[in-house]
Amino acid sequence: MRTETPQTILRSDYQPLAWTVTDVDLHFALDPANTLVTSRLTLKRNPAAPAGPLVLLGDELELMSLKIDGCEPAAPRITDTRIEIDISGDLAGDTVSAEIVTRIAPEKNTSLSGLYTSRGGFFTQCEAEGFRRITWFPDRPDVMARFTVTLEADKAKYPVLLSNGNLIGQGDLADGNTGRHFARWEDPFVKPSYLFALVAADLAVNERKIKTMSGREVLLQIWTEADAIDRTGHAMESLIRAIRWDEERFGLELDLERFMVVAVSDFNMGAMENKGLNIFNSKLLLATPETATDVDYENIEAVVAHEYFHNWTGNRVTCRDWFQLTLKEGLTVFRDQEFTADMLAGMVANEGGDSARAVKRIDDVRVLRAAQFPEDAGPMAHPIRPDSYQEINNFYTATVYEKGAEVIRMLHTLLGQEGFRNGMDLYFSYFDGQAVTCDDFVEVMSEANNGFDLDQFMRWYEQAGTPRVKASGVWNAADGSYTLTLAQSTPATPGQHVKQPLVIPVAVGLIGADGRDVALRLEGEAQPGATTRVLKLTEDAQVFRFVGLAGEPVPSLLRGFSAPVILELDEDDARLAFRMAHDADPCNRWDAAQRYAERVALALAADPAAMVPEAFVAAFRTLLNDGALDPAFRAQALALPGEAYLLERMLPADPAALRGALVRMMRALGATLAADWLDVVERLQLAGAYRYHPGDAGRRALVNLALRYLAAAGVGEGLALAEARFAAATNMTERFGALAALVQSASPARTAALQAFHDRHRDDALVLDKWFALQAGAWSWDAAAESALARVRVLLSDPSFSLSNPNKVYALLGTFFRANPGEFHAADGSGHAFWAEQVIALDARNPQVAARMARALENWRRFTPTLQASIRPQLERVLAAEGLSADVAEIVGKAVAE
Ligand code: PHE
Ligand code: ZN
Repeated sequence: MRTETPQTILRSDYQPLAWTVTDVDLHFALDPANTLVTSRLTLKRNPAAPAGPLVLLGDELELMSLKIDGCEPAAPRITDTRIEIDISGDLAGDTVSAEIVTRIAPEKNTSLSGLYTSRGGFFTQCEAEGFRRITWFPDRPDVMARFTVTLEADKAKYPVLLSNGNLIGQGDLADGNTGRHFARWEDPFVKPSYLFALVAADLAVNERKIKTMSGREVLLQIWTEADAIDRTGHAMESLIRAIRWDEERFGLELDLERFMVVAVSDFNMGAMENKGLNIFNSKLLLATPETATDVDYENIEAVVAHEYFHNWTGNRVTCRDWFQLTLKEGLTVFRDQEFTADMLAGMVANEGGDSARAVKRIDDVRVLRAAQFPEDAGPMAHPIRPDSYQEINNFYTATVYEKGAEVIRMLHTLLGQEGFRNGMDLYFSYFDGQAVTCDDFVEVMSEANNGFDLDQFMRWYEQAGTPRVKASGVWNAADGSYTLTLAQSTPATPGQHVKQPLVIPVAVGLIGADGRDVALRLEGEAQPGATTRVLKLTEDAQVFRFVGLAGEPVPSLLRGFSAPVILELDEDDARLAFRMAHDADPCNRWDAAQRYAERVALALAADPAAMVPEAFVAAFRTLLNDGALDPAFRAQALALPGEAYLLERMLPADPAALRGALVRMMRALGATLAADWLDVVERLQLAGAYRYHPGDAGRRALVNLALRYLAAAGVGEGLALAEARFAAATNMTERFGALAALVQSASPARTAALQAFHDRHRDDALVLDKWFALQAGAWSWDAAAESALARVRVLLSDPSFSLSNPNKVYALLGTFFRANPGEFHAADGSGHAFWAEQVIALDARNPQVAARMARALENWRRFTPTLQASIRPQLERVLAAEGLSADVAEIVGKAVAE
């Protein structure tokens, strides 16, 4: 662990290295306590850089020996994290060789960065700076080299030895090494060190051969522990669909003879795109109907695709430095979002593929609003391309990923599908095999589109904060015109006080009194055109005049969520209800329901005596009973906005008051609409075997939501249905949906149901994660209920819980801190003290996981004064902790600064 005072790294300080690497030959003698790594490097003077020493980076390494061109260097400057060697005199040629021997202890590596052990096997994680925890190396993404890797290990314990690329040799080791074997791998493509990977473990494989678009045969393999091999089918199908999609949509082909995916139980993140050897958190790879929900199936498909897509956007063309992270992440998230939308739509092409596409879009918007908007409004706010960081691991953020994807989506909107594709083709033709910047990407997009002006668009890469777009419309009955004024502003963020106007594509429709879209005609146009059109807002304020209208229209703005902004528009309740019933854009129809619910929730939170308005319940009823609407869409539109998002909309944020409001809303909607919800459960119930299918998933989602409302309201018949469904369920989506309804209620049946669920799945770590999360996130539905904190404390000492397993920490602590604000922020401050205690305990083992938990309190200044007074000393307590990591120090330091 690093204990020095955190250093700030600046984007503007980028310098190419004087010496880079062309070839790497690695040899691993694997042993949990004592692994020897021998690295032979061919180094080359970089003509693009000023002269300077050879720089090698390391972290917690024991250096055994170091030779340059076969000799010990004369006066190397060595610190804990850096070696500098002057190459001069005899060594002044253009290339030198280095041989470095390092000793590490993978079993002691609890940070899960570098080489570590998990359930008896060896695994690596090198992004962003994990490779320097394996061997001394110029560990930066702009150093791209060819890797050859030899692994040696005990054959009985580690029968499977994998690394990047192609297997070029394997066998048993000779005398003196009985019981040990080796494998040798060669990656034909240059890559940065963060894409290096190895696996040595006792694993089984599910494999398939397919032909790529050019007719080459490739071997696809999914590796996992033997007892989970029957859970890899969905991932394999997903991988094949991803390969096909990238061929069809982007003309991109798999470039290796084999592509391997490995599941690991202990992993900090979701998954990693190592070249030809993706490593996955097992929760994002393994699924059967009995163990995984519809949402899990969809996430697995999306992440398998995401990592596969990185092979081109990330690996073949990579980032020059870590400030450019969104170059690969924003683009790859955009690609996986498009892939999922196409897959879902394709599966239900006959029954309204567009609706499935819209539901996916709504999912993505929900994530952006719940996770990215708060980040952009707090002390960690940063542009999608940050200007500085202390610890790069803290910048794998919703901003870099999700807002980054929105920025790519806006480019796609502005250039059109074909223009975007042309830009991508040009991007690969220029930059294949290179490490580049976001400017390179945007410039090439412009060049491929006749010099399309994207200069102002670049501000999306430079400015933090969620822009506001304020819209107002004036109807002129005398000439049938509607004048729409759009004005933009972006709030100040830390270190960025003045903001410039952005290029904001605003997709607009106008709805007539009959609820139908009007064909749009802007002043100066001869003919009315399409019913939705994209207005380009580039100034502080702009006016758009629509003419030829028969009556006053209702505006529907930011259709499809055409830009990552907050739209401010005065709409009364009646208008929101009208758009809920009629808006032709599903995203906006959903958004109208969300806005209405937000308005009611905030009003109820401000006034404990207020009632849920009847008109609101009636609007929900109309949507619920609109049989023309896809159930998946109704499930989205009828779910209340997330608590995190609502807290962001509330100032000062008062989680307890908001929770009270949401409880009253759930109860009112459940009780008043009880007959309607019961009807939904009865009609949409599915029979027959489970299949992962958006149509079925939508029905299950709406039924589960109905049970949630019914149970929350304590409707007897609904609770009985939930119990019956829990007992009779034949798949995890239904079983867990029914369980969640019971747990989120005052029903005494919840305790027995939780126990039954536990007993059924006691040996299944991934399913138990759901069990932990459900309890950590549960609300109090009656005065007698135990507090969430009390429950979480008990669960911390459950035999299946472990602070060393990130999935367990995210399920129990992550859910409590992030998804249960009503309880976490208990007035007595007990949640805050518990937070400090756990962050400190976690930090000693795994700084990345600790930093993620630490982020739960970063927006503390938005809370009520009483809560702030309770939180501040806990932040200070964490900051004062001995040996605090740079990861947590950055998060908490920024939270208390300002
Ligand atoms: N690059 C991975 C992805 O987005 C995420 C990741 C980052 C995984 C850092 C591990 C460590 O697919
Ligand atoms: Zn990624």
